[in-house]
Amino acid sequence: MSSTETRIVLQVTGSIAAFKAATLASLLVEAGSEVQVIVSEGARYFIGESTFEGLTGRTVLGNVFERGRAHDHINLADWADLLLLYPASANHINRLRAGLADDLLGCLFLANNFRKPYWIAPAMNSNMLAHPAVTDALTVLEGWGCRILPTGEGRLACGAVGYGRLLEPEQTARLIREELG
Ligand SMILES: Cc1cc2nc3c(=O)[nH]c(=O)nc-3n(C[C@H](O)[C@H](O)[C@H](O)COP(=O)(O)O)c2cc1C
Repeated sequence: MSSTETRIVLQVTGSIAAFKAATLASLLVEAGSEVQVIVSEGARYFIGESTFEGLTGRTVLGNVFERGRAHDHINLADWADLLLLYPASANHINRLRAGLADDLLGCLFLANNFRKPYWIAPAMNSNMLAHPAVTDALTVLEGWGCRILPTGEGRLACGAVGYGRLLEPEQTARLIREELG
């Protein structure tokens, strides 16, 4: 591995937009990054691990109790240059805000403790995004030091038109490049 290679932890949660995480992984790898994907329980319903493994060349993680990987929840924060929740489900936004640590994503969030940039890219229906449970959680997370990426406006998977579209992979990759060089 070259010393200039950047290391990204790409955390995927259960949103209809999860397929865009595959494009993002591909763009990041193409740009010379090492990408470690972690999937939530919800993400498994939306996209297969083989897709990410094929794109990144790394085993997809998702189980805090995985045999032989007992320290991932601590070590990955040391390994990473940037941690990204993409797409971020309403469920996981609230879980992070509550400090829950019963999955790999929650443990890693606490173990990182903002030593490395932690970005959150929400993706959800406009009404979910406007709910005070979600807006409050995002405000708190931003106040703690997370970067909340903007959502786009347009047609949503549910058929409605409004805010809540996941920031496109190309734009996200560009922001990461700007951050890490
Ligand atoms: C078809 C479908 C699409 C969904 N899309 C979203 C979404 O875009 N954003 C979101 O926050 N939740 C969405 N959900 C609900 C989440 O998948 C659900 O809250 C899940 O428990 C999240 O799990 P996770 O946080 O472990 O990934 C969707 C559910 C279904 C069935």
